[in-house]
Amino acid sequence: MPLSTDALAFFSHPDADIDFSALQAELFPRHLAVIMDGNGRWAKARGLSRSEGHKAGIRGLQELVEASVKLNIPYLTVYAFSTENWSRPQIEVNTLMKLFAKEIEKQMPLLTKNQVKLNFIGDIESLPKAVQQSFEQGLEQTKDHKQITLSLAVNYGSRQEIVRAAQRLIQAYASKDLLLENLDEEAFANELFTKGLPDIDLLIRTSGEYRLSNFLLWQIAYAEFYITDVLWPDFSRYDLVRAILSYQKRERRFGSIGA
Ligand code: FPP
Repeated sequence: MPLSTDALAFFSHPDADIDFSALQAELFPRHLAVIMDGNGRWAKARGLSRSEGHKAGIRGLQELVEASVKLNIPYLTVYAFSTENWSRPQIEVNTLMKLFAKEIEKQMPLLTKNQVKLNFIGDIESLPKAVQQSFEQGLEQTKDHKQITLSLAVNYGSRQEIVRAAQRLIQAYASKDLLLENLDEEAFANELFTKGLPDIDLLIRTSGEYRLSNFLLWQIAYAEFYITDVLWPDFSRYDLVRAILSYQKRERRFGSIGA
Protein backbone atom coordinates (compact mmCIF):
# COMPACT_ATOMS: atom_id res chain seq x y z
CA MET A 1 0.00 0.00 0.00
CA PRO A 2 1.44 3.38 -0.82
CA LEU A 3 1.72 5.11 2.56
CA SER A 4 1.58 8.91 2.56
CA THR A 5 4.94 10.71 2.79
CA ASP A 6 4.01 11.73 6.30
CA ALA A 7 3.23 8.13 7.28
CA LEU A 8 6.42 6.85 5.62
CA ALA A 9 8.47 9.28 7.69
CA PHE A 10 6.59 8.22 10.84
CA PHE A 11 7.24 4.53 10.22
CA SER A 12 10.75 4.77 8.80
CA HIS A 13 13.33 3.13 11.03
CA PRO A 14 16.59 1.45 10.00
CA ASP A 15 15.75 -1.67 12.06
CA ALA A 16 12.11 -1.99 11.04
CA ASP A 17 11.85 -5.55 9.67
CA ILE A 18 8.40 -5.01 8.19
CA ASP A 19 7.31 -5.09 4.57
CA PHE A 20 5.04 -2.05 4.43
CA SER A 21 4.32 -2.69 0.76
CA ALA A 22 2.42 -5.83 1.85
CA LEU A 23 -0.24 -3.69 3.54
CA GLN A 24 -3.46 -3.73 1.53
CA ALA A 25 -5.34 -0.45 1.56
CA GLU A 26 -8.74 -2.06 1.05
CA LEU A 27 -8.31 -4.47 3.98
CA PHE A 28 -7.68 -2.14 6.89
CA PRO A 29 -9.74 -2.62 10.04
CA ARG A 30 -12.34 0.09 10.37
CA HIS A 31 -12.68 -0.37 14.10
CA LEU A 32 -9.71 -1.50 16.16
CA ALA A 33 -10.07 -2.40 19.84
CA VAL A 34 -7.17 -2.91 22.22
CA ILE A 35 -6.85 -4.49 25.66
CA MET A 36 -3.78 -2.67 26.97
CA ASP A 37 -2.42 -5.35 29.32
CA GLY A 38 0.94 -5.78 31.05
CA ASN A 39 1.61 -2.41 32.69
CA GLY A 40 2.10 -4.10 36.08
CA ARG A 41 4.55 -6.70 34.78
CA TRP A 42 6.44 -4.07 32.81
CA ALA A 43 6.91 -2.07 36.03
CA LYS A 44 7.81 -5.12 38.13
CA ALA A 45 10.53 -6.11 35.67
CA ARG A 46 12.11 -2.69 36.28
CA GLY A 47 11.67 -2.64 40.06
CA LEU A 48 9.03 0.09 39.73
CA SER A 49 5.57 0.40 41.27
CA ARG A 50 2.49 -0.71 39.34
CA SER A 51 1.45 2.94 39.21
CA GLU A 52 4.65 3.72 37.28
CA GLY A 53 3.62 0.99 34.85
CA HIS A 54 0.34 2.77 34.15
CA LYS A 55 2.12 6.07 33.62
CA ALA A 56 4.38 4.32 31.11
CA GLY A 57 1.21 2.88 29.55
CA ILE A 58 0.23 6.38 28.47
CA ARG A 59 3.22 6.34 26.11
CA GLY A 60 1.94 3.13 24.54
CA LEU A 61 -1.43 4.77 24.03
CA GLN A 62 0.10 7.88 22.42
CA GLU A 63 2.03 5.63 20.05
CA LEU A 64 -1.09 3.63 19.18
CA VAL A 65 -3.17 6.73 18.50
CA GLU A 66 -0.56 8.34 16.27
CA ALA A 67 0.09 5.14 14.34
CA SER A 68 -3.65 4.52 13.88
CA VAL A 69 -4.05 8.03 12.50
CA LYS A 70 -1.16 7.54 10.08
CA LEU A 71 -2.85 4.34 8.87
CA ASN A 72 -6.23 6.07 8.50
CA ILE A 73 -8.05 3.81 10.94
CA PRO A 74 -11.27 5.70 11.73
CA TYR A 75 -12.32 4.08 15.05
CA LEU A 76 -10.13 3.03 17.96
CA THR A 77 -11.44 1.76 21.30
CA VAL A 78 -9.18 0.96 24.26
CA TYR A 79 -9.81 -0.66 27.65
CA ALA A 80 -8.48 1.72 30.28
CA PHE A 81 -10.39 0.67 33.43
CA SER A 82 -12.87 -2.13 33.94
CA THR A 83 -15.70 -2.36 36.45
CA GLU A 84 -13.60 -5.13 38.06
CA ASN A 85 -10.50 -2.92 38.40
CA TRP A 86 -11.95 -1.21 41.52
CA SER A 87 -10.77 -4.25 43.49
CA ARG A 88 -7.11 -3.33 42.86
CA PRO A 89 -5.02 -1.75 45.67
CA GLN A 90 -6.33 1.71 46.54
CA ILE A 91 -3.06 3.41 45.62
CA GLU A 92 -3.21 1.93 42.11
CA VAL A 93 -6.86 2.91 41.62
CA ASN A 94 -6.01 6.43 42.82
CA THR A 95 -3.15 6.71 40.34
CA LEU A 96 -5.40 5.67 37.48
CA MET A 97 -8.11 8.13 38.53
CA LYS A 98 -5.49 10.90 38.71
CA LEU A 99 -4.30 10.00 35.23
CA PHE A 100 -7.86 10.18 33.91
CA ALA A 101 -8.37 13.54 35.63
CA LYS A 102 -5.15 15.14 34.39
CA GLU A 103 -4.02 13.39 31.25
CA ILE A 104 -6.79 14.45 28.84
CA GLU A 105 -5.86 18.12 29.13
CA LYS A 106 -2.14 17.27 28.97
CA GLN A 107 -2.64 15.32 25.77
CA MET A 108 -4.78 17.99 24.09
CA PRO A 109 -1.96 19.19 21.74
CA LEU A 110 -1.52 15.61 20.45
CA LEU A 111 -5.30 15.11 20.21
CA THR A 112 -5.65 18.36 18.28
CA LYS A 113 -2.67 17.81 16.00
CA ASN A 114 -4.03 14.39 15.06
CA GLN A 115 -7.68 15.52 14.99
CA VAL A 116 -8.73 12.88 17.52
CA LYS A 117 -12.36 12.99 18.60
CA LEU A 118 -12.77 11.62 22.13
CA ASN A 119 -15.58 9.38 23.26
CA PHE A 120 -16.05 7.61 26.61
CA ILE A 121 -17.82 4.31 27.16
CA GLY A 122 -18.74 2.86 30.55
CA ASP A 123 -20.45 3.99 33.72
CA ILE A 124 -18.89 7.45 33.64
CA GLU A 125 -21.42 9.00 36.04
CA SER A 126 -20.08 6.86 38.92
CA LEU A 127 -16.51 8.14 38.48
CA PRO A 128 -14.98 10.84 40.73
CA LYS A 129 -16.15 14.35 39.87
CA ALA A 130 -12.67 15.47 38.73
CA VAL A 131 -12.56 12.61 36.23
CA GLN A 132 -16.04 13.41 34.93
CA GLN A 133 -15.06 17.05 34.47
CA SER A 134 -11.89 16.09 32.63
CA PHE A 135 -13.90 13.83 30.31
CA GLU A 136 -16.59 16.46 29.70
CA GLN A 137 -13.93 19.00 28.81
CA GLY A 138 -12.21 16.48 26.54
CA LEU A 139 -15.49 15.77 24.73
CA GLU A 140 -16.17 19.47 24.25
CA GLN A 141 -12.65 20.32 23.06
CA THR A 142 -12.47 17.49 20.52
CA LYS A 143 -16.07 17.38 19.29
CA ASP A 144 -15.22 18.85 15.88
CA HIS A 145 -12.17 16.66 15.25
CA LYS A 146 -12.64 14.43 12.24
CA GLN A 147 -9.68 12.08 11.75
CA ILE A 148 -10.35 9.30 14.27
CA THR A 149 -12.81 8.52 17.08
CA LEU A 150 -10.95 7.34 20.17
CA SER A 151 -13.27 5.67 22.66
CA LEU A 152 -11.82 5.23 26.15
CA ALA A 153 -13.54 2.45 28.06
CA VAL A 154 -13.48 3.58 31.69
CA ASN A 155 -15.46 1.90 34.46
CA TYR A 156 -16.61 -0.34 31.63
CA GLY A 157 -18.00 -3.86 31.88
CA SER A 158 -19.66 -5.55 28.94
CA ARG A 159 -22.15 -7.64 30.92
CA GLN A 160 -23.26 -4.54 32.82
CA GLU A 161 -23.60 -2.73 29.50
CA ILE A 162 -25.84 -5.50 28.13
CA VAL A 163 -28.02 -5.60 31.27
CA ARG A 164 -28.34 -1.80 31.13
CA ALA A 165 -29.43 -2.03 27.49
CA ALA A 166 -32.07 -4.63 28.43
CA GLN A 167 -33.36 -2.36 31.21
CA ARG A 168 -33.60 0.60 28.85
CA LEU A 169 -35.44 -1.46 26.24
CA ILE A 170 -37.91 -2.80 28.81
CA GLN A 171 -38.56 0.75 29.94
CA ALA A 172 -39.17 1.82 26.35
CA TYR A 173 -41.49 -1.17 25.88
CA ALA A 174 -43.39 -0.41 29.08
CA SER A 175 -43.91 3.19 28.02
CA LYS A 176 -44.99 1.99 24.56
CA ASP A 177 -42.05 3.78 22.87
CA LEU A 178 -40.90 0.39 21.59
CA LEU A 179 -42.97 -2.37 20.00
CA LEU A 180 -41.77 -5.94 20.50
CA GLU A 181 -41.58 -6.53 16.74
CA ASN A 182 -39.21 -3.57 16.44
CA LEU A 183 -36.70 -5.05 18.88
CA ASP A 184 -33.97 -6.30 16.56
CA GLU A 185 -30.15 -6.35 16.72
CA GLU A 186 -29.90 -2.75 15.62
CA ALA A 187 -32.38 -1.55 18.26
CA PHE A 188 -30.43 -3.48 20.89
CA ALA A 189 -27.04 -2.12 19.74
CA ASN A 190 -28.47 1.40 19.92
CA GLU A 191 -28.84 1.03 23.69
CA LEU A 192 -25.19 0.04 24.21
CA PHE A 193 -22.50 2.57 25.15
CA THR A 194 -21.06 1.99 21.67
CA LYS A 195 -24.15 3.32 19.89
CA GLY A 196 -23.13 4.74 16.52
CA LEU A 197 -19.79 2.90 16.37
CA PRO A 198 -19.28 0.07 13.88
CA ASP A 199 -18.59 -3.48 15.13
CA ILE A 200 -15.00 -4.34 16.03
CA ASP A 201 -12.92 -5.76 13.17
CA LEU A 202 -9.68 -6.45 15.02
CA LEU A 203 -9.09 -6.94 18.73
CA ILE A 204 -5.51 -6.76 19.99
CA ARG A 205 -4.50 -7.92 23.46
CA THR A 206 -0.97 -7.41 24.74
CA SER A 207 1.06 -9.34 27.34
CA GLY A 208 0.21 -12.79 25.98
CA GLU A 209 -3.11 -13.30 27.79
CA TYR A 210 -5.92 -15.11 25.95
CA ARG A 211 -8.88 -13.55 27.71
CA LEU A 212 -11.65 -11.07 26.91
CA SER A 213 -12.03 -9.75 30.47
CA ASN A 214 -15.61 -8.55 29.98
CA PHE A 215 -14.70 -6.27 27.04
CA LEU A 216 -17.12 -5.54 24.17
CA LEU A 217 -18.77 -8.99 24.21
CA TRP A 218 -21.57 -7.94 21.85
CA GLN A 219 -19.39 -5.81 19.58
CA ILE A 220 -16.70 -8.46 18.90
CA ALA A 221 -19.14 -11.03 17.45
CA TYR A 222 -17.11 -11.24 14.20
CA ALA A 223 -13.82 -9.65 15.26
CA GLU A 224 -10.44 -11.20 14.50
CA PHE A 225 -8.11 -11.57 17.51
CA TYR A 226 -4.41 -10.77 17.67
CA ILE A 227 -2.47 -11.60 20.83
CA THR A 228 1.10 -10.44 21.32
CA ASP A 229 3.54 -11.09 24.17
CA VAL A 230 4.66 -7.44 24.11
CA LEU A 231 3.81 -5.65 27.39
CA TRP A 232 1.62 -2.60 26.87
CA PRO A 233 4.16 0.18 27.60
CA ASP A 234 6.47 -1.39 24.99
CA PHE A 235 3.78 -1.60 22.29
CA SER A 236 5.12 0.22 19.25
CA ARG A 237 3.89 1.45 15.90
CA TYR A 238 5.59 -1.61 14.39
CA ASP A 239 3.61 -3.94 16.64
CA LEU A 240 0.46 -2.33 15.28
CA VAL A 241 1.57 -2.91 11.69
CA ARG A 242 2.41 -6.55 12.54
CA ALA A 243 -1.11 -6.99 13.94
CA ILE A 244 -2.67 -5.51 10.81
CA LEU A 245 -0.57 -7.63 8.49
CA SER A 246 -1.74 -10.72 10.41
CA TYR A 247 -5.35 -9.51 10.24
CA GLN A 248 -5.12 -8.96 6.49
CA LYS A 249 -4.11 -12.59 5.98
CA ARG A 250 -7.27 -13.88 7.65
CA GLU A 251 -10.27 -14.90 5.61
CA ARG A 252 -13.26 -13.27 7.30
CA ARG A 253 -16.24 -15.45 6.53
CA PHE A 254 -18.88 -14.01 8.87
CA GLY A 255 -20.37 -17.48 9.32
CA SER A 256 -20.41 -18.26 5.59
CA ILE A 257 -18.03 -20.63 3.75
CA GLY A 258 -15.79 -18.11 2.04
CA ALA A 259 -14.57 -17.88 -1.52
C1 FPP B 1 -3.69 -3.45 32.42
O1 FPP B 1 -2.37 -3.78 32.86
C2 FPP B 1 -3.84 -2.00 32.32
C3 FPP B 1 -4.77 -1.26 32.98
C4 FPP B 1 -5.77 -1.86 33.89
C5 FPP B 1 -4.81 0.21 32.82
C6 FPP B 1 -4.53 0.73 31.46
C7 FPP B 1 -4.46 2.20 31.53
C8 FPP B 1 -3.60 2.96 30.83
C9 FPP B 1 -2.69 2.44 29.79
C10 FPP B 1 -3.60 4.43 31.06
C11 FPP B 1 -4.74 5.06 30.31
C12 FPP B 1 -4.83 6.46 30.66
C13 FPP B 1 -5.65 7.38 30.06
C14 FPP B 1 -5.62 8.78 30.48
C15 FPP B 1 -6.59 6.96 29.00
P1 FPP B 1 -2.20 -4.55 34.23
O2 FPP B 1 -2.10 -3.55 35.32
O3 FPP B 1 -3.31 -5.54 34.41
O4 FPP B 1 -0.83 -5.28 34.03
P2 FPP B 1 -0.40 -6.71 34.63
O5 FPP B 1 -1.35 -7.72 34.05
O6 FPP B 1 1.00 -6.89 34.14
O7 FPP B 1 -0.50 -6.61 36.11
